[in-house]
Amino acid sequence: MQIYHSPLDLQVTAWKWRSQGVNVGLVPTMGYLHQGHVSLMKHARDRANKVIVSLFVNPTQFGPNEDLSRYPRDFEHDVAVAEQAGVDVLFAPTPLDMYDDGSPVWVDVPDMALRLCGKTRPTHFRGVTTVVTKLLMLAMPQFAVFGEKDWQQLQILRRMVSALNIPVELIGCPIVREADGLALSSRNVNLAAEERRQAVNIYAGLTMAATRVADGVTDVSQLVADVQAYYERSMSLGRIDYLEVFHPFTLQPLASITGPARIAAAVFFEKARLIDNMALNNDLLSDPA
Ligand code: PAF
Repeated sequence: MQIYHSPLDLQVTAWKWRSQGVNVGLVPTMGYLHQGHVSLMKHARDRANKVIVSLFVNPTQFGPNEDLSRYPRDFEHDVAVAEQAGVDVLFAPTPLDMYDDGSPVWVDVPDMALRLCGKTRPTHFRGVTTVVTKLLMLAMPQFAVFGEKDWQQLQILRRMVSALNIPVELIGCPIVREADGLALSSRNVNLAAEERRQAVNIYAGLTMAATRVADGVTDVSQLVADVQAYYERSMSLGRIDYLEVFHPFTLQPLASITGPARIAAAVFFEKARLIDNMALNNDLLSDPA
C-alpha cells in the first residue's frame, strides 16, 4: 500500500490510472477506522481495480465549539487496518495540504444542509461537500463509497454530484452495528461507560418506531412523541438534538407516513454527539442511485 500526503502525488497517480482505464474506488474517511469503515473498503475492493482511502479530519466541517480537537486519531492503527483491507493508496494530507490560505471557496447545498443535523451544525455540510468535491477531483474515482449512518450526508452528496455533473457513482453501504445495536462510530470511544450503556437506546427507539409503522401507525407527531418519551426515560445522560421523520431522499419533514420515510436521531452526550437512522417502511424504499 502506498501512502501519500501530497494532493499532487495522489492526483498524478489517479490521472495515470484514469488514462489507463483502471476502475478506481474511493472511500473518504476521517480515520480512527473501525469495522464500519472496513465494510466500505471491502465493498470498494470487490468492485474496483484500485482502492483509494482518504484519511483526513477535515477542519472545515467542524463548527467553532465542536469536537475537532477531541476527534480521535490513530495513524498507525489506520495504516494497519487499510493495509489489511487490501487498500492500494492511503491518502493522508494535512489541513495545510488541503486548504490554501486564500479566501475560502465553498461547495454548498444550502437547502438540504440546514435540515436535521444542519439545525445545530449549520456550517457542517458545507465543509463536507467542499472537501468531498476536492477528494473527487484529486482521486478521480469511478465510484465513491459512504456509510448510511450519515444518511443526510449521503443524500446531500448525491444532490451535489448530480447538480454539478460530477462523473462519479456514489454508493451507500448499510450501517454496521455493535452486537447490542449501537451504530459504529469513531466518536463512540469518547463515551463514558454509563453513557455507552445508555446510548444503545438510540437504536432501540428507532427500532420501536419502525415496528410501530410496520403495525400500521402513520401519524408522525404521535410516533415522534413516543420515541422521544422513550429516549427521555432511558437516556438520562443524553440530550436529544433532534428526532425527525422525513422523506429519505429530499429530507423534507413528513406529517404522516404514506410512502417512503426515514427516521433519524442525534443525541448529545458529554463528549460525543451520536447519530443514527432507520428506514420506516423498507418495502416502499427504492434507492434512486
Ligand atoms: O463521513 C465522514 O467521515 C466525513 O464527513 C467525510 C465524508 C470523510 C468528509 O470529511
